[in-house]
Amino acid sequence: MRGRFITIEGGEGAGKSTNVALMADFLRAAGVAHLTTREPGGTRLGELVRELLLAVTAEPIVPLAELLLMFAARAQHLAQVVVPALEAGTWVICDRFTDASYAYQGAGRELGEAPVAALEQLVQGELRPDLTLILDLDPERGLARVQQRGPLDRFEREQRAFFVRVRTAYQRRALADPVRCRLIDAGQTPEQVGEAVLAPLHDLVGGQ
Ligand code: TMP
Repeated sequence: MRGRFITIEGGEGAGKSTNVALMADFLRAAGVAHLTTREPGGTRLGELVRELLLAVTAEPIVPLAELLLMFAARAQHLAQVVVPALEAGTWVICDRFTDASYAYQGAGRELGEAPVAALEQLVQGELRPDLTLILDLDPERGLARVQQRGPLDRFEREQRAFFVRVRTAYQRRALADPVRCRLIDAGQTPEQVGEAVLAPLHDLVGGQ
């Protein structure tokens, strides 16, 4: 049977990494073959593109170039990692996917949904995640967490208004697609967030 494709999303410092690890532990305990990966990244090319995208450099990256690089990394990642795994019955937990392109490039960079939708169709065809967990957090709280981790990357240096647009876009996407998406209040205690993250996974594992 085909593996399940699970993505996790949210603003900076919303707790994605912690909850990716939690989900992986849960699937391991349930005996479900799985892998964890991330975007941009997950392949050699994707990790190189990630470095280009996160580096703070003198030359600005124009929004369309940023969007195309995200999808270039995604095309490679889908072909080399995600699709082969799903076809082999391995579940894939991916830290960010195309909802991030809608939120960051479509809304944050104000490119609009149309170019993102066009590339989604081109690169993914019919492929969509089975489940998307969106960790919702006040950008101020998220950025405060990120600032404690060390130097800020090119996205983390954006203005507050950018992150407000990103958050609103994620909320809108969760509302528009309630079957696939779960909007989780990431301002709760880590235990409460963890419970909310694992609840839909229980259902997916149970429904196999
Ligand atoms: P991460 O460090 O949270 O994993 O993600 C790196 C950055 O990449 C994050 O600031 C969001 C950004 N990003 C986009 O702007 N568009 C995308 O499609 C993806 C996957 C990530």
